[in-house]
Amino acid sequence: MATGQSVLLIIGGGVAAYKSLLLIRLLKTAGIGVRVVLTRGGAQFVTPLSVGALSGEKVFTDLFDLTDEAEMGHIQLSRAADLVVAAPATADLMARMAAGMADDLATTLLLATDKDVLIAPAMNVRMWEHAATQANLATLRARGVAVVGPDAGDMACGEYGPGRMAEPEAIMAAIRTALAGTPRDLAGRRIVVTSGPTHEPIDPVRYIANRSSGKQGQAIAAALAARGAEVVLVSGPVGLDPPPGVETRGVGTAREMLAATLAALPADAVVCAAAVADYRVADAADQKLKKADGAGRTLTLVENPDILATVSTLPGGERPRLVVGFAAETQDVLAYAGAKRTRKGCDWIVANDVSQGVFGGDDNRVTLIDAQGSEDWPKMGKDAVAAKLAERIATALS
Ligand SMILES: Cc1cc2nc3c(=O)[nH]c(=O)nc-3n(C[C@H](O)[C@H](O)[C@H](O)COP(=O)(O)O)c2cc1C
Repeated sequence: MATGQSVLLIIGGGVAAYKSLLLIRLLKTAGIGVRVVLTRGGAQFVTPLSVGALSGEKVFTDLFDLTDEAEMGHIQLSRAADLVVAAPATADLMARMAAGMADDLATTLLLATDKDVLIAPAMNVRMWEHAATQANLATLRARGVAVVGPDAGDMACGEYGPGRMAEPEAIMAAIRTALAGTPRDLAGRRIVVTSGPTHEPIDPVRYIANRSSGKQGQAIAAALAARGAEVVLVSGPVGLDPPPGVETRGVGTAREMLAATLAALPADAVVCAAAVADYRVADAADQKLKKADGAGRTLTLVENPDILATVSTLPGGERPRLVVGFAAETQDVLAYAGAKRTRKGCDWIVANDVSQGVFGGDDNRVTLIDAQGSEDWPKMGKDAVAAKLAERIATALS
């Protein structure tokens, strides 16, 4: 069913351009109109014929095509859609965007548009990690450009690492967020989110863990990214796909989570949503422990470092402006959570009663506690909790 919404899709000159054909299909199926601009590079990878057949629209390629200018001027083309999407966004296209160039149709439209812009970068891992590309990325983000991906994985060039264009489904999710009109009031902010459980090894094949699914933390990371924040998600082992538009760093143990969190600083805010194990096995065995019939076995546990307290008590300039912790309790939730806030030195605590199927479920019922008092939020989906928390964070950082 037609939504009345439309996207201007710029396809740049990367191998991933073939995935943008699938994206066109997804947009059409969702009832979102799509008009495509092929860069000169893009036209080397996919043809105007296939793009036109899939989009059902004329395909634009040349800034100086007089027929196009008579039919629809380039300024109008840049504004007729609700959102401009560049996928794949090549290193070259990102550089020209950051520099404010307008030397072809795509960059002219990107400069002339009054609509939100979403890019899905795709390039070789070294090109992605190059200081020039990272500086261009930071410039674009600070201007409010939304970014989805890239993913890490095997690349067409035979190398491995971040640089693969996000999958069409992930780009589609980012397009839906952008079209929903979420304010981009966290653009230019960097936020670290911890999520999921930790696994504390007993021996090479066994570990101590908890029931955290990572759903709430991932939803928070996605909601912050949707408002334009640059988000680093430090995630324990979870069975979820990493959320789009977020840089995910996977960890195993609490100590690894602490190291990854500190390495991701400086940040404007840190949200500690992970269910970090309080204890680990003192001497995890190097080899698989064998069953000793009838003998029983005692594990000695030692305390893990406290990530929330560590971040909250960093010295002045290093402490993020806002530190948010989560308190999962099964009894006396408010009393324990309030005490946790003062003990750990964080600014807010999101308290939840996990006695009733919160772990792994889709709903959550939380109380937000700050220095002024507490506020009960009604039971709602974890996505809605995340959206509300992201709104509060945006207000606090503004
Ligand atoms: C086979 C081939 C594959 C390429 N793949 C990529 C890529 O994935 N990402 C990228 O940034 N550049 C890639 N390039 C380089 C771009 O095509 C080149 O920078 C071009 O100028 C980009 O054009 P555009 O900015 O008009 O899209 C590739 C070049 C070739 C020849």
